[in-house]
Amino acid sequence: MNALKSIALLDSGVGGLTVVKEIFKQLPNERIVYFGDTARMPYGPRPHQQVRGFAMQIIDFLQTQDIKLVIVACNSASAAGLSWYQENVVLPVIGVIEPGARAALEHTKTKRIGVIGTTGTIKSGAYDKAIKKLDPEVKVFSQECPLFVLIVENNLINARETKKVAEEYLGPLKESGIDVLILGCTHYPLLNEVIQEAVGPEVRLISSAEETAREAKEILINNDLLNSNSDNSTHHRFFVSASPKTFVEIGEKLIGMKVKAYQVIMP
Ligand code: DGL
Repeated sequence: MNALKSIALLDSGVGGLTVVKEIFKQLPNERIVYFGDTARMPYGPRPHQQVRGFAMQIIDFLQTQDIKLVIVACNSASAAGLSWYQENVVLPVIGVIEPGARAALEHTKTKRIGVIGTTGTIKSGAYDKAIKKLDPEVKVFSQECPLFVLIVENNLINARETKKVAEEYLGPLKESGIDVLILGCTHYPLLNEVIQEAVGPEVRLISSAEETAREAKEILINNDLLNSNSDNSTHHRFFVSASPKTFVEIGEKLIGMKVKAYQVIMP
């Protein structure tokens, strides 16, 4: 019975949908319930304690939705307190930082890894710690890119200024000799093209989505929670804390399916 429950994902907005896309690919039988805290995004500039409070409030809501696993599909919220959510929630909870670090280590040859993320994620040093725990010899070059989330949430991906902003943020990283760059914010894969252009074709971009979905699958298998029922009538649920309009527009393009999102006002 538990296997029929949903996988819950949360983010400050549309970013976590990059993880949803990968879940659909690797776990096609699973039903998801998603929460985008669009009224309170961006999380990046906020103090960790506040982000932790928001995330916990959302997890509490998601737990009323018949779920079996929580994916904190937001680097800022993961950096703000993944272990804290794990201690306070009975269900398994995973984040996106360790999967991203693992994926980067798999691909680096020079052991020079770049990380971009929100101010909160970069200042937390969460990626440095996760990478160095796995391989202390790696050199990590970090850069915060606070405007990227706003660019994505305001549907400005193709605006002329976006390219300039990317060049400004990523110029120094290009000079540092990195061979992989971790997109340490789930919004950033939506800017893949512009980021790739700014760092050059020889740098491999790493999104944690793929590795996170793999970890989710492993947890479901190990806990006998994998849904083996391939009934196509599965319906997914999307919730947002502000008006759903832009979320739906960006979301449908990203995951390639009709999205109906409901607004839930957060106190
Ligand atoms: N997708 C969130 C992350 O991965 C965005 C953070 C924000 O709202 O600033 O960090």
